[in-house]
Amino acid sequence: MIYRTAFRMLRRIPPELVHSLALDGLALLASGRLTRAALRRACFPPGQRLRVRALGTVFPSPLGAAAGLDKGARWFTALGAIGFGFVEVGTVTPRAQEPNPPPRLRRLPADRALLNRMGFPNPGAAVVAERLRRRDGAAVVGANLGKARDTPLARAAGDYRAAAAALAALADYVVVNVSSPNTPGLRELESAELLAPLLGEVRETLAASGRPLLVKISPDLDDAAIDAIADLALAAGLDGIVAVNTTLARAGLSDPAPGEGGISGAPLKARSLAVLRRLRGRVGDRLVLVSVGGVESADDVWERVRAGATLVQAYTGFVYGGPAWPRRINRELDRRLAAAGLASIRELVGSGAPSGREDAIASGG
Ligand SMILES: Cc1cc2nc3c(=O)[nH]c(=O)nc-3n(C[C@H](O)[C@H](O)[C@H](O)COP(=O)(O)O)c2cc1C
Repeated sequence: MIYRTAFRMLRRIPPELVHSLALDGLALLASGRLTRAALRRACFPPGQRLRVRALGTVFPSPLGAAAGLDKGARWFTALGAIGFGFVEVGTVTPRAQEPNPPPRLRRLPADRALLNRMGFPNPGAAVVAERLRRRDGAAVVGANLGKARDTPLARAAGDYRAAAAALAALADYVVVNVSSPNTPGLRELESAELLAPLLGEVRETLAASGRPLLVKISPDLDDAAIDAIADLALAAGLDGIVAVNTTLARAGLSDPAPGEGGISGAPLKARSLAVLRRLRGRVGDRLVLVSVGGVESADDVWERVRAGATLVQAYTGFVYGGPAWPRRINRELDRRLAAAGLASIRELVGSGAPSGREDAIASGG
């Protein structure tokens, strides 16, 4: 009864507030060095099976917190302590930016989904840089970069370069985000003729720091556009692709018109997997593929890794799964790897892709 009342009350509080209160609470819990170490011990299984060496870094688990969860780099230490192998902070723009006016975040529990039109609220690259400067090194952190709402597309590259210059040396990898549906015109940057020079410029900015560069793409691209970005990523010497951002598609939702914005969570699962498979077919193991969209369970992570993802991220699955969710996924993955006789999850990457070692690793338990 008490729980039911508490739950009903919680559902009345705006989801953004619940989100930030919950993460502030976790951050408080993880702020002491000893409790943080104890949390890490409890949330990452002992041994090396989940460890992934990629992008010049060692990830303690392939499961990461997707961009948007920690937009202002306030919670990456806590998220890293409760079982996320890495945290992609941002999207960060060069200067601070306010959110879009409400409504901007809605839970769609019947579909295990979220609808958001946040519009890159963040404290700006200088503040995020200051917060990253203070990190203790335990959490792997990516920096996801975007353009400001009021920057015209013709000057977008300047925004990405400024944010990259401020953050690259402080992050383990950098992502150019050209796929959020909530910044008008942003997705136009996904066309090859705009994306090629943009990536070239950011690459140049990263030359001094040597940080790996990835691009984050939308699930709403057609196959030809996905292939074009894959080819471009190879030609531009990128290190990887993050696929996918939220979708503008509404197919399969219980409420077919839930409002404006991008849908995340379970309705994105099949599309996210299809985009991953297409990318893997095109680039093989020449790029690090980071799969995101509708990941809710260890089964989902397993499937993505077999389809060719070296790393996997989640946002909505964590919101619905709660703070113990990353720990559960890590434990289940570790158990399945042990059952399959695999010493490292790296051995699973791409094993279910058409050219992979289909026979060697079937379901793993
Ligand atoms: C509330 C919310 C805010 C988000 N903000 C960002 C963002 O700032 N930058 C970005 O690249 N992706 C952002 N995303 C997209 C997620 O990183 C992820 O690509 C998408 O939600 C699909 O994963 P999921 O199904 O696990 O949620 C956001 C998603 C949500 C739900």
